[in-house]
Amino acid sequence: MTAPLLPGHPHLAYRATPSGQDLYLEGARLADLARIHGTPLFVYSQQAMLDALAAYQRGLASRIEQGKARICYALKANSSLAILQLFARAGCGFDIVSGGELERVLAAGGDPTRVIFSGVGKTRTEMRQALDTGIGCFNVESEAELDVLNDVAVELGKVAPVSIRVNPDVDAKTHPYISTGLKGNKFGIAHERAVAVYQHAARLPGLKVVGIDCHIGSQITEERPYLDALERVLDLVEAIEAAGIPLHHIDLGGGLGIDYHGDTPPAADALWHKLLARLDARGHGAKAIFIEPGRSLVGNAGVCLTEVLYLKPGEQKNFCIVDAAMNDLPRPAMYEAYHQIVPLAPRDTAQASAAVNYEVVGPICESGDWLGHDRMLTVQAGDQLAVLSAGAYCMSMASNYNTRGRAAEVLVRGEQPTLIRRRESAADSFRHDILP
Ligand code: LLP
Repeated sequence: MTAPLLPGHPHLAYRATPSGQDLYLEGARLADLARIHGTPLFVYSQQAMLDALAAYQRGLASRIEQGKARICYALKANSSLAILQLFARAGCGFDIVSGGELERVLAAGGDPTRVIFSGVGKTRTEMRQALDTGIGCFNVESEAELDVLNDVAVELGKVAPVSIRVNPDVDAKTHPYISTGLKGNKFGIAHERAVAVYQHAARLPGLKVVGIDCHIGSQITEERPYLDALERVLDLVEAIEAAGIPLHHIDLGGGLGIDYHGDTPPAADALWHKLLARLDARGHGAKAIFIEPGRSLVGNAGVCLTEVLYLKPGEQKNFCIVDAAMNDLPRPAMYEAYHQIVPLAPRDTAQASAAVNYEVVGPICESGDWLGHDRMLTVQAGDQLAVLSAGAYCMSMASNYNTRGRAAEVLVRGEQPTLIRRRESAADSFRHDILP
């Protein structure tokens, strides 16, 4: 087996075959999966997900042993039931942002008491559903939401466990669309208002204050923003407790980045050792720690397989038109995100010298439907490619635009592939339409 393609993709590698090389994810030959299930096709490595989780578990080990740490997988990153089941069985709780996500967690066998509910716009219906299910904590994002949650809880004769999301005003140095901890964001309560809001919450009969929460952004590749956010949150913890409101847990959100293209995020275990040391040093060693990682648990565990439909040489640009599109892989169109694109069976070196610079684009009728700019590829129509780092925020953000059914998904364990989601048909996508 040759070296992994990217440090972030430990279970993806080319293997030599009599006719050349073939790309494998764990022990599964990806070209076989593309032939059996068709393309576009998402394929995930179970081991890569468990390894990513293990890094957090190592970092938090001292607290996990005392039952004082909870890893709540943020399922917005990838909400396939099989993946939720995997994380539930590995001991994870879940960070949800809708009633629909709660239903998914329950359908996958997740423990509702280990669910935390984030998001700025929870509806009364969702609050009722979550209270009836007995979730672990509501991460409340505004003063108005506190009052509504209190009303709903009192109506049901229940007490809602709450944590208030504070905005630490720390620059996560990431894409503006996925930076959430700055003053101008819609998320959380301003640092200066936090103590007053906690005092208000503590007086409401339908609420029980249990923790504090912050989340500063996503795809964070430096440790500094985390260290800064922790200090600012601890300042608040101390002020809130001095006001007579004890806090049981501190939730530091998710956000750790992955290696898409030479990115070098801190390792989860090293980062958490550092953060726990700071917590201990400031006298908060007894508090429970919650985290909400999404992307870093699944992003580099997944690839999206696609077939080259046509090559279209042009005067200014050459287009490589593939059968995956922005409805399957929305991140390039939405964030100008970079995903590495590699062939499943690379051509030999003599042919590789004939590599051509391509715009890799999908079939959707929009110029924004691109998957990669300026990619040097040696390809022909009918070749298959893998779009890497496709485990997070791809399938979960996929749509039916252009009446394209969403792709199928396969989970690989060693040499064993399992279909975990069937390809959607066109009929699936208009099943709810009504002809008058
Ligand atoms: N907790 C909260 C409250 C969040 O808002 C998020 C992500 C997470 C946890 C998980 O963050 P992660 O560990 O995945 O960075 N669609 C964008 C990413 C949006 C992230 C939104 N919030 C993308 O494709 O880059």
